[in-house]
This record gives sequence, structure tokens and C-alpha cells, in this order.
Amino acid sequence: MASSSSLLSAGVSILLIQAVAVSVGVATAGDAPAQLPRSELAAIFRVMADLLGDPTWPQLHPRPCTDTPWPGLQCELAPDDSTRLRATRLHFGPDVSTPPCRPGARLAAPAILGLPHLRTLSLFGCFVDAGPVELPTALFTNASSLEQLVLKSNPGLTGRIPATLTNLKSLQVLSLSQNGFHGEIPRELGGLTALQQLDLSYNNITGEIPDEIGGMASLSILDLSWNGIGGGVPAALGGLKMLQKADLSYNWLAGVVPPEVGSLKELVFLDLSHNGLAGPLPASLAGLAKLQYLLLQDNPIGTAVPAVVGSLRRLQVLGLSGCNLTGPIPRGAFAALGSLMALSLDRNRLDGPIPASLGALPHLGQLNLSQNRLAGEIALPVEFVARLGRRLDVRGNEELCVGQGRYGGLQASYLRAPPCVGRGSTNGTAALDEGAAGVYGPVVGLVCHLLVLLALKL
Ligand SMILES: *[C@@H]1O[C@H](CO)[C@@H](O)[C@H](O)[C@H]1NC(C)=O
Ligand SMILES: *[C@@H]1O[C@H](CO)[C@@H](O)[C@H](O)[C@H]1NC(C)=O
Ligand SMILES: *[C@@H]1O[C@H](CO)[C@@H](O)[C@H](O)[C@H]1NC(C)=O
Ligand SMILES: *[C@@H]1O[C@H](CO)[C@@H](O)[C@H](O)[C@H]1NC(C)=O
Ligand SMILES: *[C@@H]1O[C@H](CO)[C@@H](O)[C@H](O)[C@H]1NC(C)=O
Repeated sequence: MASSSSLLSAGVSILLIQAVAVSVGVATAGDAPAQLPRSELAAIFRVMADLLGDPTWPQLHPRPCTDTPWPGLQCELAPDDSTRLRATRLHFGPDVSTPPCRPGARLAAPAILGLPHLRTLSLFGCFVDAGPVELPTALFTNASSLEQLVLKSNPGLTGRIPATLTNLKSLQVLSLSQNGFHGEIPRELGGLTALQQLDLSYNNITGEIPDEIGGMASLSILDLSWNGIGGGVPAALGGLKMLQKADLSYNWLAGVVPPEVGSLKELVFLDLSHNGLAGPLPASLAGLAKLQYLLLQDNPIGTAVPAVVGSLRRLQVLGLSGCNLTGPIPRGAFAALGSLMALSLDRNRLDGPIPASLGALPHLGQLNLSQNRLAGEIALPVEFVARLGRRLDVRGNEELCVGQGRYGGLQASYLRAPPCVGRGSTNGTAALDEGAAGVYGPVVGLVCHLLVLLALKL
């Protein structure tokens, strides 16, 4: 006991020396060192008690902004008063809080409201194994300065998303991902006109996406994935002119993609996969000039390969697996997609030959055509087949075959299609055309070349 108290006093004197150093740094010449107002200090002690339940915290961190700092807390000098500090950022997570949040931790309004200058509040993995905790509606008032509210990976955080969040007029980032929220997205959130990022992914949210979402004029990232959201994709989404990323995947969305989505000129990433969306896709999607990722897999689109995707010139990844697509893969459908790196058309009902032109896409490194009804001789360039290796998947197309000797040793390990011997010669003229082009192409090219040489001589 005696030794520990002498250690403690040694510690305190070191801290005092630090305090002098810090106060010199923070204070302006001749003034007293900047202090956190008593009310804010009391509020911090209350928040810590609510979350950590560690009675020694106030003793270990009596001046948490200056000489006894805690890494989860950030303070700034008040702009109009150099003797005052303000608590501006509070962050809890496995990286800063040891011990972690206590069982039965809570976020109580009176404590948080005692920190009116807080701009960032983030809690990661805090409400985990105790009983369920709800966000008190009184937590969010129009007196708040919050710009970022990030409550992530708190499975014990349940109940509804409070409509009072709309009072946070400065809010730029709202991330409530990987919690246990249920109920609907409150319409009131549409009033968050400064919001740039909204992430409600991995909760149990149901109901429909409210039209009011179109009011979030500053939104650039919208992630509602992995919930139980139903209804349709609202046309109001088209009002989000700044939107760069939209992820609505893994929900129960139905109906068609509304044409208004095509007016999202800044959109780079669109993921609508794993929903119940039907075709046809609106032609207006051609307006998504910056789109690099279009993920539509596992929706009952039920049309031919949508022609509109062929005009998305910046596209790098196109996912159309499991979309119930029918008919042939049109020759040249993807010819303009010079940046395309991955194309998935597996698990559809596509028939006809594999267009050899797919092998001409310079950056294509993954091509999945498996589990369709494609037929005829595979006429993809040898160089392409060798380059993709196992990232070219044509398995599960019973009518496909490989021309004898075409891919040499590559055939057995990469293509998994039987040789064309004794078949294909009578059936599938389109496939034969493709195959013939592969054989005669170089010959025709050579002839042209010779003709050009002759012409030059003349
Ligand atoms: C904040 O809310 C209070 C009570 O709801 C209201 O009286 C006040 O006018 C509001 N202030 C602003 C700036 O909106
Ligand atoms: C979310 O819903 C699923 C299925 O309805 C359920 O198994 C899960 O426990 C729920 N999660 C939470 C955190 O409520
Ligand atoms: C696929 O489309 C056909 C009509 O073209 C329809 O009869 C069938 O139910 C669809 N399948 C799925 C899984 O949506
Ligand atoms: C291609 O798609 C099928 C069916 O979805 C899948 O099982 C397979 O793993 C995919 N192949 C590659 C190489 O990703
Ligand atoms: C050729 O086509 C006929 C009918 O068009 C079909 O019954 C037969 O199975 C086909 N044969 C091969 C080898 O594809």
C-alpha cells in the first residue's frame, strides 16, 4: 500500500512537470493555462462512468485535455477565448479504451448534452454482450455541434433509429453500421441537408426507403446494405446529385430501377445486388458517365443482356450473375468497355456462342460465363485464355466445345469443355462463324496486308 502510494506521488510529480510544459504550449504569453470549463469536465467524468464504469478514471485523468490526457478525447482552444478549452472529439473503441465498455454501458443524454462543442462522437464495439441498449431520443438536440456520429459494431445497440437525429443540422457523417437497429428509416432524416455520408448497413432495418431521402442534397455516400428494406428504389434518389457511392445490396427491394437513377452524374459505385429488382433497366442509366462498378447480380431482371450497360465506358466491374438473362450475348455488347476488368454473366439462361470479341477487351481479367446454355465452339483468342487461366469460367454450359488442338495443353485445366470432334460441324452455324473467324481471321489479315503493300508500291 505504502509503496503504491509513493509510486503514485512520484507519478503525480511527473505529471505536474508535464502540466507546466503543456500549459506553456497552450496559454498565450502571460495568461493562465487554458482550462476545460468545470461543466464540461464534469460531463466527461459522467460519460466515462456511464460507459467504462471505472471509478479510478477521474483520478487517473483529472485534466484529460492537458497533463493527464486520454487518447480517446480531443480538446481544442475556444476560438474567442484563449483561456478556455473545449472537448471536441470523443472516441471509444478497442484501440483506446482499456478496459473496454462495462457490461450495462449506456449513452445518457444529460452527460452527452454537457459537451455542447463535441463535433465527433464515435463508439466502436462498446455495447456488446450486456442487455440491449437504445439511443435516447433526447440525445440529439439543435444545440449540438456534432458533425460526425459513428456508432459501429455495437450489436447490443437496438431499438429504432431516433427521428431526433434530424436536429443535428451540422451532421456530415452518420454511421450506424453493424448494430441491432430495427424499424424504419425515419423520414425526418431527409432534413439532414449537410449530411455527406449515411451508413446504416448491417442492421435489421425494415420498411421502405423514404422519399425524403432525396432531401439530403450533400450526400455522397449512401449505404443501406444488409438490412430487410422492402418497397422500391425511390425515384427521389435521383435528387442526390452529389452521390458517388450507393449500396442498397442485400435487401428486399422490388419493382424496376427508376429512370431517375440515371441522373446521378457523379456516381462511381452502384450496388443493387441481392434484391428482387425486375427489368428492364432504364435506358437513362447511360447517363452514369463516371460509373466504374455496376453490381446487379441476383435480381430477377429477366431480360436480354441489357444494351445500356454497353455505353458505360468507365465500367471496370459488371456483375450480372443470376439475373435470369435470356438470349445470346450480343456480339460487341461490351466492345466499348475498354476499362472492363471483371464481367460476371454466370447463372443466367444465356444461349448461343461466346462472342470471340470478349477476348479483345484489353483489361478483362475475369470472365464468368458458367451455368448458362451457351453453345458451339469456344473461339476466344488463345492469348486471352492463357492470360485468364482459372479466372475464365465456362463450366456448366453443356453445348460448348473446344476445337481440336485449339488451346493445346490449356484446354483440360482451364476450359472444362469437351472437344468439338464429331459435333458442332452440323449444328450451331453462329458458333461455326466465330470459330471460322478465328481460323481465317489471320489469313484475311495477311491478304489485306499484302494488298496494302501492293497498293503502296503502285
Ligand atoms: C431549438 O429547439 C428549441 C426547442 O425545441 C426551439 O425553441 C429553438 O427555437 C430551436 N433553435 C433553433 C436554432 O432551431
Ligand atoms: C436481426 O434479425 C435476424 C432475423 O430476423 C435475427 O436473427 C437477429 O437476431 C436480429 N439481430 C438483432 C441484432 O436484432
Ligand atoms: C425467369 O424469367 C422467366 C420468364 O422469362 C420466368 O418465367 C421465371 O419465373 C424467371 N425466373 C426467376 C427465378 O425469376
Ligand atoms: C463462376 O460462377 C459460378 C456460379 O456462380 C461460381 O460457382 C464459380 O465459382 C465462379 N467462378 C469463378 C472463377 O469465380
Ligand atoms: C443438333 O441440333 C439438333 C436439333 O437442332 C439437336 O437435336 C442435336 O442434339 C444437336 N446436336 C448437337 C451435337 O449439338
